[in-house]
Amino acid sequence: MTKLAIFASGSGSNFQAIVDAITNRHILATCEVLITDNDEAKVINRAKKAGIPVHTFDPKKYDKKATFEREILKVLQSYGVTFIVLAGYMRLVGPTILKPFDQKIVNIHPSLLPSFPGLNAIEQALHAGVKVTGVTIHYVDQGMDTGPIIAQEAVAISKEDTVHTLTEKIHAVEHSLYCETLAKLLNKEASTHT
Ligand code: GRF
Repeated sequence: MTKLAIFASGSGSNFQAIVDAITNRHILATCEVLITDNDEAKVINRAKKAGIPVHTFDPKKYDKKATFEREILKVLQSYGVTFIVLAGYMRLVGPTILKPFDQKIVNIHPSLLPSFPGLNAIEQALHAGVKVTGVTIHYVDQGMDTGPIIAQEAVAISKEDTVHTLTEKIHAVEHSLYCETLAKLLNKEASTHT
């Protein structure tokens, strides 16, 4: 089974959905470690409850990004991680991690890319007045939300929607789409090895 690392900086609702799907054997993989850059992130408690080791890296403690990422890479290697899932990780992944994990890093973004990349995608969609937004899962490259798209699902925006209500709708779609997509990507590999 594929050994995953999940990278997250915030609440971790996607982390939770993925860990639950692993526990239920919907995704055939193991989550070896949570990597976070935020020692106050709620996701840390979720990992602790699930018995998943947490490694926190404060980027301010490193002279440059490559040094920061080299330390993360050492931890990934020590757990035998072969696939990285970004779930609300609020930082661009640099070449130090991208090179050894070519096509092995996925991200989830709360819009139908290439529309509304970057921060505050849900607010961007609301302010633009579009009637449909959604969720995108994509491979990660050196750009900001630019890698090849793996899956997308649309979410309708109603006149009554606020940032809060639209965020709730998008999160619900994220949790199911991320789990389904990871199952498609990883389960085939698991069944050929068991
Ligand atoms: C999600 O909306 C995801 O698309 C974006 O960051 C958010 C993370 O939410 N990249 P959570 O921490 O998983 O609840």
